[in-house]
Amino acid sequence: MILKPSIRSNVFTNAHPLGSESFVKNQIEEAQAQPSFEGPRNVLVVGGSSGYGLASRIALAYGAFANTLNVSYESPPKGKRTGTAGWWNNIFFQKHAKETGNVHKDFVGDAFSQTMKKQVADSIRENFGKVDLVVYSIAAGARPNPKTGELVRSSIKPIGNKAMGKTIDIAKRQLKDLTVEPADDAEIQNTVYVMGGSDWQDWMDTLEAEGVLSEGVKTISYTYVGGESTSHIYRSGTIGKAKEDLEDKAQKMHEKLQISLGGEALISSSKAVVTKASVFIPQMPVYVSCLFDTMMRHGVHETALGHKYRLFKDMVYGNKRIVDDVGRLRLDHKEMDFAIQNETSRLMKNITEEKLFGLEGTQMVLRDFYRMNGFAFEEIDYDKPVDMETLSKLKPE
Ligand code: NAI
Repeated sequence: MILKPSIRSNVFTNAHPLGSESFVKNQIEEAQAQPSFEGPRNVLVVGGSSGYGLASRIALAYGAFANTLNVSYESPPKGKRTGTAGWWNNIFFQKHAKETGNVHKDFVGDAFSQTMKKQVADSIRENFGKVDLVVYSIAAGARPNPKTGELVRSSIKPIGNKAMGKTIDIAKRQLKDLTVEPADDAEIQNTVYVMGGSDWQDWMDTLEAEGVLSEGVKTISYTYVGGESTSHIYRSGTIGKAKEDLEDKAQKMHEKLQISLGGEALISSSKAVVTKASVFIPQMPVYVSCLFDTMMRHGVHETALGHKYRLFKDMVYGNKRIVDDVGRLRLDHKEMDFAIQNETSRLMKNITEEKLFGLEGTQMVLRDFYRMNGFAFEEIDYDKPVDMETLSKLKPE
C-alpha cells in the first residue's frame, strides 16, 4: 500500500507506520541526549500514545529509567485503514524501549471505563506491585455516561459571546475566517464531564482502593492557561471551564493523598504545542504558528519532549518548581513571558495568508502536524509501498 497524507478538517485520516517509528525514535534520541535524573520507578500514563502523554512516557522511560504502563484509545489497521498514529507509536515505543531492559506495557481501550481501571490495577499489582507516578493526559471528544448509556460529547466553544478570528486549513494551506457561536449550558456541562477532572479522580480513587499506589505517590495532569489571544476560545470558553474543574479536582485529590499516602496531586500548566488535540481547536493553529515563530526568534522554543523532560527533571522530581498562587506548576513560563505574548499578539494582528505561510513558525507547525502522523520525514521514501500485511501482525504488549 502506498501511503500519502490524507487530512479532513485538520484531522489526519491515516498514518504512515514507518514514519511513526521515526517520530518515536526522534523523541527517544532527544531524551537520550539529555542528562538523566532521579525519578519514579513505576509509572502509569493514561493517554500515553501521542502528544504530551507520549512525551511524558519517553521522558520517564529514558530520563529516569522507569517502567511504564500506558492506557490509550487507538485503532489497529483494518482493510484499507492504516491504523491510527497512536497505535503505531505504541508499537514502536515498545520495540525501541526493549533496550532499556525495563517493563513497558500497553492497554488499548476506553480509559473512562471502570473495567479498564480494574484491569490496569491488576496489571500494576502483577507487574510492579505499586506505582509511584500517575500521569493523566487524556484529550477526548466524548465520554460515555455509564448511568444513562449516553455518549456525552465535548465542544470547543466560547461562553457568552461568539468568537471571531482566523484559523488554518492545513490540507489546503489557507488562512480562513472563523466564527464560533457561544455554547449553551448543556454544552458547557458536557465539556466539563468529558475534559474535566472527574475521570482522573475516579482513576486515583480506584487505584488507591486497590492498594496499588506507593507511599509518596505523585499524580499529575496538564492544563492550559494561555494569554489574551486565545482567551475567548480557550480559557474563558467551554474547555477553560473543564480545566477549572480539573484544577479543582487536583486540589481535592492533593489534600486526600497527602493524608493517606503522603503523596501529591499536581497540575502543570503546559505550553501550546502541535498535537492531534490542539490543531483541532479553532484559532489555535494561527496562535501556535505565531508563538513558535516568536519563541524561535528568542531562542526559547521547546518541543513536546523537551517540555515534559524539563517538567519531570526540574519540577516534579527536581528543585526548580515555579508555582503560581493557585498551586499550579508554571512550566509555560516561557510562553507566558510578557515580551513573547506581546510579540505573538502583534504578529497575529492583521495577519495575511502570505505573511502567515512565510513564517518559520508556521512551517514548523505544518511539519510537526505531518510528522505526528508519520509524514514529512526525509529518511522515508513515501513512493514506496508499505508492507501493511507484515506490519498488521504487530500488536502492543
Ligand atoms: P493527544 O490527542 O495528542 O493525546 C490524547 C491521548 O488521550 C491519546 O493517547 C489518546 O489515545 C488518549 N485517549 C483519548 N480518549 C481516550 C479514551 N477514551 N481512553 C483511553 N485513552 C484515550 O492530546 P494532547 O494535546 O497531548 O493532550 C493531553 C493533555 O494535555 C490534555 O489534557 C490537554 O488539554 C493538555 N494540554 C495540551 C496542550 C497542547 O498544546 N497540546 C497544552 C496544554 C495542555
